[in-house]
Amino acid sequence: MSEKQIFQPNAEFAKNANIGSMDEYNALQNKAIENYEGFWGDYAKEKLDWIEPFTNVLDESKAPFVKWFDGGKLNVSTQCIDRHLDTRKNKAAIIFEGDRGDVQTITYLDLYKNVNRFANLLKEDFGVQKGDRVVIYMPMIPEAAYAMLACARIGAIHSIVFGGFSSEALKDRIEDAEAKVVITADGAFRKEKPYMLKPVVDAAIDDNSPVKKVLVVERNHEEVTWNKGRDYSYNELIKNKSTHCEAEVMDSEDPLFLLYTSGSTGKPKGVQHNSAGYILWAQMTMEWVFDVKENDTYWCTADVGWITGHTYIVYGPLAMGATTVMFEGVITYPDAGRPWSMVENHRINQFYTAPTAIRVLHKMGENEPKKYDLSSLKVLGTVGEPIDPPAWKWYYEEVGGSKCAIVDTYWQTETGGHIISPLPGATPIKPACATLPLPGIIAEILDPATGEKAEVGETGYMCITRPWPSQIRGVWGDEERYVKSYYGDVTKDGKAVYFTGDGARYDEDGYITITGRTDDVINVSGHRMGTAEVEAAIKKHANVAEVAVVGKPHELKGEGIFAYIVLKSDDGVADEVAEMKAINSVIKKEIGNIAVCDDIVFAPGLPKTRSGKIMRRILRSIAKGEAITQDISTLEDPSVVAKIEAMVKG
Ligand code: WT7
Repeated sequence: MSEKQIFQPNAEFAKNANIGSMDEYNALQNKAIENYEGFWGDYAKEKLDWIEPFTNVLDESKAPFVKWFDGGKLNVSTQCIDRHLDTRKNKAAIIFEGDRGDVQTITYLDLYKNVNRFANLLKEDFGVQKGDRVVIYMPMIPEAAYAMLACARIGAIHSIVFGGFSSEALKDRIEDAEAKVVITADGAFRKEKPYMLKPVVDAAIDDNSPVKKVLVVERNHEEVTWNKGRDYSYNELIKNKSTHCEAEVMDSEDPLFLLYTSGSTGKPKGVQHNSAGYILWAQMTMEWVFDVKENDTYWCTADVGWITGHTYIVYGPLAMGATTVMFEGVITYPDAGRPWSMVENHRINQFYTAPTAIRVLHKMGENEPKKYDLSSLKVLGTVGEPIDPPAWKWYYEEVGGSKCAIVDTYWQTETGGHIISPLPGATPIKPACATLPLPGIIAEILDPATGEKAEVGETGYMCITRPWPSQIRGVWGDEERYVKSYYGDVTKDGKAVYFTGDGARYDEDGYITITGRTDDVINVSGHRMGTAEVEAAIKKHANVAEVAVVGKPHELKGEGIFAYIVLKSDDGVADEVAEMKAINSVIKKEIGNIAVCDDIVFAPGLPKTRSGKIMRRILRSIAKGEAITQDISTLEDPSVVAKIEAMVKG
């Protein structure tokens, strides 16, 4: 299977698809190009239930600070729940499968009641008001979704912190957002063992913390510390709450949530998404890209702590009235057939996961898919990093039985939803290729030097040249950082355009292949890590003088973290293994397990220019085992390069 191979959409499937041919795709995209505001305005009217209609589709007068659907009033939780009650109250909204195989089906009516009770709890017992920030640090249990929607209902801004982040990372995010409440759990199950979140929350909150109240969902009934006057049991407080809570009337541009993500410099930034534009695109992409039908069961394996979990486990599926599966456990437990047994058991129709998961499932359970009935599957999705052709082939043939489209969805935290992706009933697909911008998304690969469209085969910068409804609205508390991070690198026709941070190239059919980050961001198992962040963590180790971190291709994770460390003590390292462990435990404490280094080299020095800038490019080449092609004669100490090379090879 070569990159050149092309696979036509399944003709049977295309007949009933929401977008069923390239002609339809082209017509939609042309409509968007010809009348951008008309295109979006029509969809916003059709897809959303407005409390008050909007008066203006797009306001770009203060670009890159844009407003969509100004004047409109709505509530996102109503979009996701209330409006389905007439026709779907007994339909499964969420099918939860626990780590140990326990299944719970939550109907739209159940969801309504649970979310309303939760909203009343936050308002009445915790005094949470519109605009307040609420941090959610939760395992993958239905209460995580209730918490998100309860915040949306009362106009509070949630900020979910992935459960794998350490107390230091949690603390930073709490403080940056000045959150007054944390919602957590007394544990969750992972491989049948409890894993604990509450102790991490305890360590993240001290007397100076803005957090005054902690809500603890009792899932495991593990022993946890209860701080009197601060910690409350959800299970207790929820008991006598009313199942009706009036939804707060929100402006289109009222913030819905923050989600912290890594950039190439400094601390993680709080990416802000607002109400109307985000929920509109979450719903539309569910309908277009996954082509979910009324009776379908859809499963996305992400964690709610990442943007994929926000948009494609909770908001998107629920906004369109779909059935979404939520899974607490680990996809390789009890064995690498777990997802396929779940597909068979729940008759899953759309399955969405990450390339790293596909590689692991392939490696650990090549023949597992054969053991299960996967005939319900119609669409397979991937997200998070470029997928390699071997993983794509296995997914296409063994999981999809060569009859399901693979939608290689390219997007990022900042885009809110998919931006470049095949449409399963329309787009002829090529292995490992994100293909074309979705209708309404004006995305172009530009040459950063000229702002011109990149030539076929040339790697350029992946840019979005018109604002779009679900785009990032700002970096929390830092207007300037928003502008600098996204609108600083590429100018087209004299106007700064949104740059994703990724490189990409066109092929002869105009298809887009994403080549990876162009900045100092590493993509570890589909999770973004900033090298600056990892370096800052390593520097907390008392014996570290200097450090530089780069990404190195990794068989399963996509990229692994490779650290070059110069120690303070110049008499070498007595016990390298112990020292590496010590470094990684600092990282675990400062960030979490996801940032642990795969390789650490104790270098005699780092390659620097005479002005002191670390030449990361050289370090990247050494990590990959590539020959150094750069000119090193201008380095402060060129001899250090050969020394490091010898150490890495040795
Ligand atoms: C970065 C965004 C989008 C949700 C998960 C990650 C990379 C994402 C693809 C894809 C190639 C991809 C990009 C992007 N990426 N999807 N289909 N093909 N690369 O969200 O943490 O915001 O990371 O993930 O580098 O910029 P995120």
